[in-house]
Amino acid sequence: MEKQAYGAVVALEGSEDLAISIAKSLRVPFDIDKDTAKITVFKDNESKLTLQSTHAGQSVMLVARLFPNPPEKVLEFLVLSRALKDNGASIHAVLPYLAYARQDRAFLPGELVTIRELSELMKGIVEEVITVNIHSEEAKEQFAASLKDVSAMPLLAHYAKEIIKAKSKSIVVVSPDEGGIERARAFASEIGAEKAIALDKERDRITGEITTKDIADNLAGKTAIIIDDMIATGGTVVNAANVLRRHNAKEIYVMAVHGLFLDEADKKIKEAGANEIITTNTINNKYAKVDISEVLADALR
Ligand code: R5P
Repeated sequence: MEKQAYGAVVALEGSEDLAISIAKSLRVPFDIDKDTAKITVFKDNESKLTLQSTHAGQSVMLVARLFPNPPEKVLEFLVLSRALKDNGASIHAVLPYLAYARQDRAFLPGELVTIRELSELMKGIVEEVITVNIHSEEAKEQFAASLKDVSAMPLLAHYAKEIIKAKSKSIVVVSPDEGGIERARAFASEIGAEKAIALDKERDRITGEITTKDIADNLAGKTAIIIDDMIATGGTVVNAANVLRRHNAKEIYVMAVHGLFLDEADKKIKEAGANEIITTNTINNKYAKVDISEVLADALR
């Protein structure tokens, strides 16, 4: 006799691979539906979603990478969630990369806390949101109790232990900004690194330009692991790698949870002297060597 499914794992376009591995990791039967919605794109670039299955009465784990093209993905996610809910499903949103989380406060007069508006739009539609390493506590607070923020750091640390620690004796973990020092310290202790340091980075809120101050340390003979939550334009990591190289780091590894790699960021990071770039698959990219589907499945169980 066929086992009764507990619910369905549904994928927004571009998240099918994750939906499949999450469903497998759940270890109890879940239907996988990669074609819940048909998307039609009109000549003016508007898209229209048509429900092909309603999942009425089911718990739906809706897996949606909100990248590339966050505005479009967010809209598709909201429309699909609403349609499924109105047809009787209860929605558990799996948003591995929560776009707009960097807009978590008004940095300049007139700026809006866009992540708050996004959380408002989800209220009343989704039961809970599960994400990976949300950008900040401020962004997290906008979702109150309905958000589960899981960390990919243990998985990245595991990779570092297996692959980097096996080759290098003396490792320094580097946060490219002061805000990330706790993360870098925890990472260093997890992999048994020599120490963790934070660089002093500033971003010009008008031009977006990033400056990173020099350090006093001499890193001769040491392997540096830069750890960050995300790589977008790569400016932060490029500056960090330049500082580390100037201070004689033997090798530089770059690790981040979310890899957006805008404006050929990966090329620039390699040119700045990085030996390897490692990210998770919250966003699909060619450096996504760490799979987060198991931790997402754990959060859903
Ligand atoms: C900043 O607070 C973040 O942790 C990242 O360092 C930043 O968002 C990366 O952006 P980019 O790659 O454009 O420098």
